Formats: sequence, structure tokens, C-alpha cells
Amino acid sequence: MIVPRAALVAAAQQAAEQAYAPYSHYRVGAALAFEDGVIVTAANVENASYGLSLCAETVAVARAMNEGRRGGLVAIAVAGLNAGAEPVTPCGRCRQVLSELAQGGGTDPLVWSGTGETSFEARLSQLLPHAFGPASLG
Ligand code: THU
Repeated sequence: MIVPRAALVAAAQQAAEQAYAPYSHYRVGAALAFEDGVIVTAANVENASYGLSLCAETVAVARAMNEGRRGGLVAIAVAGLNAGAEPVTPCGRCRQVLSELAQGGGTDPLVWSGTGETSFEARLSQLLPHAFGPASLG
């Protein structure tokens, strides 16, 4: 089962409302869609020690894995509430964190961001080619 793009982007936008971003004021939401139709969402969580801030995508992966999910990730939507015209794409660290969950189930999820003319779509493997992962450890 694949969740429609518009629904997953809307879930990410809604999740961004819960962002704790008093320092950057850059509110981001992420929505992860799984093979069984479940959607797991999260928003970024900043910290007064700025470097400890957590991105929305990383919090979403942590939530999903704490619910027992180890794979089945088929699509990822990211939305910035007060971002500029450019769609938000996962930062480098988040690409690696998302890849761990994707590789756990052998999927290559679609990554969606933006709406209308600024919409973005790619496979996670395009955003993080030659990914390091569980199999790399031998
Ligand atoms: N951020 C995310 O949550 N996801 C991204 O893909 C890009 C950046 C957050 C981290 C920080 O709280 C704020 O956006 C500004 O960088």
C-alpha cells in the first residue's frame, strides 16, 4: 500500500505545527509511510545547546523504531512551514538515519517535498548514493 503524495506531504505539514524551534524559527515536519499503510510523523526539536538539535526526520525514525519498526519504509515527506520557495530535503545526517531504517527492510523510499511548481521527488538512494549501512559492517 502506498500513501498518496498529497496526503503524506499534508501529514508532514501538520506535524511541523508541533516543532520546537525557538532558535532557528525554522519549523520542519516529517512523515514516514510504511508498507502497511501506517504513517509516523515528527517535527524538529531544538536545544539551547544548538548543536544538539534534532531534525524532524531523525525524530520520526526514532519514533518508528521505538514502535518496533525495522523496515517497510516506502515514502518520506518533509515540509518546512516557514521555509523559502525551495522544498526542504533531508540534511546529510538525516539521509543516513533514514537509510538505516530503509535498508532494514530492503526498500528504497521515495522522498517528497514541496507542492505545486516547487515539488521535489527522488529516491533515497539518489540522495545518498553508495550508502553505508548494516551490510557494510560485514
Ligand atoms: N531541520 C530539519 O528538521 N530537517 C531538515 O531536513 C533540515 C533542517 C531543522 C534542524 C533545525 O532545527 C532547523 O531545521 C534549522 O536548521
